[in-house]
Amino acid sequence: MNFLEERIVKDGIVKPGNVLKVDSFLNHQMDIGLMEQIGKEFKRRFSDKHITKVMTIESSGIGIAAFVAKEFGVPMVFAKKSKSINIEGEMYVAEVDSFTHKNRNQVIVSRKFLGPDDHLLIIDDFLANGCALQGLISIASSAGATIEGLGIVIEKGFQIGGNVIRNLGYHLESLAIVDAMDAETGTITFRPQPDRTAEATYDI
Ligand code: G4P
Repeated sequence: MNFLEERIVKDGIVKPGNVLKVDSFLNHQMDIGLMEQIGKEFKRRFSDKHITKVMTIESSGIGIAAFVAKEFGVPMVFAKKSKSINIEGEMYVAEVDSFTHKNRNQVIVSRKFLGPDDHLLIIDDFLANGCALQGLISIASSAGATIEGLGIVIEKGFQIGGNVIRNLGYHLESLAIVDAMDAETGTITFRPQPDRTAEATYDI
């Protein structure tokens, strides 16, 4: 297990409906030492890429992306969720559907902070159906920016997002890929990562 998988096994809680709660260390209370490790791990995984900016979406992505940006020594910009409409012109806009929350948000990034010279690393905490990433990809494309890669902390491998993004040809790195989880037993199965060879199932 890598450091993140170990932490998920130790402190994650499997909820009914295929929801993994990690709010004690990742997306409500944040373990800052772990954030630093995550930042360094993304730097390692994308070390061959020329990155000029890290991009994420509010809210949970922000803290993580900040640590990644620090490792690369570049600014971080986050897409804001917005209900307002009269913003086109100054802003890049994309629609993001949330499968989990059954709603739709407009997400916006100011044209001041993204342009054709940017080489982006896109970061988020969870990848489920990929709606958030698709929105960020759409914004990057409106800006004419180059997407060098996408980094996800926890991918839910049994939902479609990971396949969709990889099939589009992007370099997607997920620090932990959960292939299955069982709320009754607390069992969680991680997809093998390059530094591990066998699939591993753990009781949490
Ligand atoms: P998608 O972007 O990959 O399509 O995700 P989806 O619409 O299914 O998920 C909506 C929100 O729920 C996202 O956060 C996503 O991070 C989160 N989410 C999805 N599955 C899980 C899970 O198993 N555990 C936890 N803890 N979160 C999950 P969001 O609405 O954008 O919220 P936030 O970033 O403001 O917190």
